[in-house]
Formats: sequence, structure tokens, C-alpha cells
Amino acid sequence: MAVVTLDSLNIRSIKEVELNNRRVLVRCDFNAPLDDDGIVTDDSRIVAALPTLRYVLEQGGKVICCSHLGRPNGKRDPAFSLEPIGQRLGALLPDIDVMLPDDCVGDAAEHLIFRQRPSQIILLENLRFHKGEKSNSEEFAKKLADRCDVYINDAFGALHREHASVSALPGMIPDRAAGLLVEKELRFIGELAKGAKSPYLAIVGGAKISGKIEVLEKLVDTVDGLIIGGAMANTFLVARGHEMGRSLIEQDRIRLAQHLLKRFDSKGVKVLLPSDVICVDDLSADASTQSVAVDNVGPEQMAVDIGPDSRAQFAAAIAGESSLGLPKTIFWNGPMGVFEIEAFSQGTMAIARALARSTARTIVGGGDSGAAVKKAGVSDLMTHVSTGGGASLSYLSGEALPGLIALRGGRRST
Ligand code: 3PG
Repeated sequence: MAVVTLDSLNIRSIKEVELNNRRVLVRCDFNAPLDDDGIVTDDSRIVAALPTLRYVLEQGGKVICCSHLGRPNGKRDPAFSLEPIGQRLGALLPDIDVMLPDDCVGDAAEHLIFRQRPSQIILLENLRFHKGEKSNSEEFAKKLADRCDVYINDAFGALHREHASVSALPGMIPDRAAGLLVEKELRFIGELAKGAKSPYLAIVGGAKISGKIEVLEKLVDTVDGLIIGGAMANTFLVARGHEMGRSLIEQDRIRLAQHLLKRFDSKGVKVLLPSDVICVDDLSADASTQSVAVDNVGPEQMAVDIGPDSRAQFAAAIAGESSLGLPKTIFWNGPMGVFEIEAFSQGTMAIARALARSTARTIVGGGDSGAAVKKAGVSDLMTHVSTGGGASLSYLSGEALPGLIALRGGRRST
């Protein structure tokens, strides 16, 4: 199995940088979901950052964390404050005081940073309250860089963003390195890109083909089998000649879907599409549902999930009961239906449970599929659940991630 090392990317590991008694700016991805009362509903990304934060503290470094949360469009908006994140972080690190200045730059932050004690973590307020973050402003990056001696990027989920704290900033600090989470994510996702153990089965779902074209193109050369579910399967089903009523279909991607199916076919990749779907007449939680064979979808019907036959067929492929044989590697990205609505989540939950029973290396992309394995209570049974949705897809597609480019060439100081 080919292993992606930081060294091969010309990126220093946090372990190669002197941290003792130095101000260490750790870029985290604390973009966690909040409920209407502003409580964190899934703290996976915060928990995933703990090894790096603990490591810096153990080495005698002073931790200054920064992150984005949501998309506040360059304006201060209390609904996107990192305060709930700070509370959760404080609960997870009971011996540490988490201090939250009301802005990520300026006097309040500076005041705390210059008086910081080793038992404190300073969590800077949402970077996206400043337009300069998204516009990758050098000036904004410089304000952040001026306050630290070391820069650590541990925000795997944001590596694909060309934003100031990810892209412009690292080059301003010679002692820059990847954090432990980034290193771990690159190892697992990198393994899929280069040398996954065969038979390799990918399961791709979600609403649209559009966001997944590059990854599908890449999978043509790497997988042995492919399961397609979710609304994007509708477009593939239409490409195979089925009529899908009022289901979500990307009309302008039907030809692309046909082309992709041909490419998979010519490489001998077995592609499984749903054989039946759960249909409704309107998209509401209490709509009455019907399971319909894909040949019989009526003109007024809408597919919102895969049906029972598809669930069984997909689970069988995962369990090795198909011509593919027993998969040794499985990658999953994207739900099988509108899984936020309980009544339409059965297909997605069935995949999560089937993966939990699998003996393969199971690597789950972040975002919705990460949320699905959590909802099914099986996250711990996966080999790896990525913290990055878009980032894991971009990396798997072979894109050069701005956050990795910017980390290159850091100085080794230990
Ligand atoms: C994510 O949630 O995928 C990352 O935190 C990036 O967030 P963004 O899509 O708002 O840039």
C-alpha cells in the first residue's frame, strides 16, 4: 500500500518544529453544526483537533487557535460566533482555560496573547468576520502572522480553500508545519488515491454529479466496483434509459453520465445503480412513500431514497456477495437519499450498517456520510471517518490543495 508522507510533499510535521515557549497559531476547522440555541450538535471536528492541541501544550507551546464557522460573508454576526466552540473545547480540556477575544485581530486579541499563560488556549473569533479571510488578503494574513512564532495547519476540512489563514499566511512564517490531524487524513485519503487494496469498492451518493465529476473521473482508474446512490443516481438512471418522473435530475449532465458509464464499463468496473427507489409525490416529511422499481417510476413521482431491493443488493456487494468478491477497501461519500428526513434515511443508514459489518478498510468522506455513520452509531467501527467533506473529495481527485501548497518548504527546527 502506497503511503503519503509529509516528507514526500515537502511539508514539515509538527514534530519537527520547536514549540517550547513559543506562540503557536493552530489553524483548526471548527466549522461544527450548531442547533437553534447555538449548541454544538456534533463535536467531531473539535475532538479531532485535540491531539494536536494537547501536543503543543505538552511541548510547552502557547496555543492560539483560529477557525472559520459558517459563512458570515465578511461581517460580524453573533450567530456565527465561535463562543459555543470555545465552550465545548473548554469542556473537553478541563484543565485549560479557553479565552475568546471578541475579534481575531486587533487590541483585544493582542492583549490576551501577550499575557497568555501556559494553561490557557486563546481561541480567536471567527476569521470570516473579516472579508480579508475569504479574499486571501496578504494584509489580513500579516496581522495574524505578526502574533505567532509557529504556524500549524490542522484544518484538513479547509485545505481546499484559498483563504488567508490557509493560503497567504503560512508562507509568512518559516516555522510552519502540518498538525497531527492533517497528517492522519492525508495518510488515509492518500491511500485511496494511490494503491488502495483491491478489490476496491467506492460508494458515491449525494444530490448532484456536478460536484463529483473530478472524483468520478479519478475513480475510473482506481476502483474495481462502484455503487451510485442518492439523487445523482437519477441522472445515471436516465442515462441508462429509465424515466424518473419529477425526481431531481441534472439534464445537462445526462451525456456526461453516459460517458462516465462507458468509461467505467471499458475499464471493467462493475457499476451498481439502484434497482428500486422510494418515491413521494411531494417532498415533505409526512408524504406517503412507495417503493417503486426504477422501470415503473410514474410521471408525478419523485425518488427520495433507494428502495429495499437496492439496499439488499448494495449491502450484498459490501459483504462480498457479488461478482466483485470480498472488498478489501471501501470508500463512501454521499448519502443515498434525503437522509435529513427520517422517513427517507433508510438507504443511507443501511449503507452505514453494512460498512460497520465489513472486514474491509472502510474510509468515509466527511460531511453527510460522516454524519450518517455517526447517526447510525457506527463511526467507531470505520477505519477512518474524514473530517473534511469537500477537502477529502478534492484531495482524492488529485487537486493541488491551496493549504498544502502553502505549507511546503517549512523550516525544521528540532
Ligand atoms: C467544511 O465544512 O467543509 C469546511 O469547514 C469548509 O467550509 P466551507 O465550505 O464553508 O468553506
